[in-house]
Amino acid sequence: MSSNTTNTSTSSYQVAENAYFSSNPPPKALPQHVAAAESFINQHAAANRRVVLVTSGGTTVPLEKQTVRFIDNFSAGTRGATSAEYFLESGYAVIFLHRQFSLLPYSRHYSHSTDCFLDFLHENPDGSVVANPAHQDKMLRVLRKYNAAKRQNLLLMLPFVTITDYLHELRAVAQLMRPLGPNGLLYLAAAVSDFFVPAERMAEHKIQSTDATDMLKKQGPTTVTKESREQPQQDEEAFDNFDSSPAVPRSKRLIVDLDPVPKFLKNLVDGWAPEGMIVSFKLETDPAILVHKAKYSLERYQHHLVIGNLLSTRKWEVVFVAPGHEDNWIRVPFSRRKKTITGTEETDQKNKENEPLDPATLPEGEPEIEIEGLIIPAVEELHAKHIKTAAARSGSK
Ligand code: PMT
Repeated sequence: MSSNTTNTSTSSYQVAENAYFSSNPPPKALPQHVAAAESFINQHAAANRRVVLVTSGGTTVPLEKQTVRFIDNFSAGTRGATSAEYFLESGYAVIFLHRQFSLLPYSRHYSHSTDCFLDFLHENPDGSVVANPAHQDKMLRVLRKYNAAKRQNLLLMLPFVTITDYLHELRAVAQLMRPLGPNGLLYLAAAVSDFFVPAERMAEHKIQSTDATDMLKKQGPTTVTKESREQPQQDEEAFDNFDSSPAVPRSKRLIVDLDPVPKFLKNLVDGWAPEGMIVSFKLETDPAILVHKAKYSLERYQHHLVIGNLLSTRKWEVVFVAPGHEDNWIRVPFSRRKKTITGTEETDQKNKENEPLDPATLPEGEPEIEIEGLIIPAVEELHAKHIKTAAARSGSK
């Protein structure tokens, strides 16, 4: 690519960044979050510790400024919260930028709807509350790790809600990570919305589903008399937007018009955190396009690693796509996989090592081990290489 083209494209990314951030206001908590992140990063930079920014959970897309309705996505934050624990275990300090009320490191073991924490406890005859004997060991292990992370100030939790909150927070924290140089790692596991309603087009108040207030807007407040109660306006409250039949006129439907969210990965790579290692995720539902899309993303943004995963198999396998490396499929052991009609599972697997798993071959329920326990050591290895390469480069200057 000629430097001319690079300049032009860099400035177009910059223009998109300026336009987005100046017209979509930041979250109120941003200054507090920035102050907390700055002191956290300074502490760990001084100790020459690696710091990872883990993003986690889904972003909402509000339809109103005083938000009653919003668009959301499936992400529970499992990948992010679980990864954060393994990063802490590997000696990283973790900034956990997460969707408010999504799963959190450590507490996730007891906050899932199928694992209600009250079911892990009982009351002793003396009225004290204790963990059930069957859960004591695990609870103690989790509690100790959680307290150790807190005691050493190794885990900073920063919540976001909307897509715009997320992007403001991401930009601010990534820029603060610059002094970490290559010791910084950005691990972008959040499920980020690709579409949004820009602030200038967003309704201030709850979008109405009936025309009951149209009169009010035209004429100002009216007095409700006995007669008007008995003879309401013909159309008043006569329709709602939940009837999607084609018989409903277009003017009475709720048509949501979304703009694309600018892709800020390029800004992240080139400007916000240029020396840190950047790991993005690629989520797809169609196995046929996953690797292609991951490669396309790597090519386009020129960062360090794309971890591809499919919605249906994301707890069982991921694929690492990195420049100069063969695609690397990371899978949990398949001892509990079903046999297939074409032969033994082992033979099938050997033949398809470089292809996504067939979800039909997976057992019901969760894998016995967490795939993040395999992902994080592999990321850490690449990060160590990244740091070494950067050191060699700065040594040769
Ligand atoms: O939370 P779980 O239920 O455990 O699910 C985990 C997960 C499936 C959400 C996670 O593993 C995952 O794949 N996260 C990324 C999902 C996603 O947003 O993929 P994408 O293809 O839409 O985006 C690709 C990358 O581009 C993302 O890393 C994102 O940081 C980045 N991006 C996206 C939008 C945007 N405007 N700018 C960006 O830079």
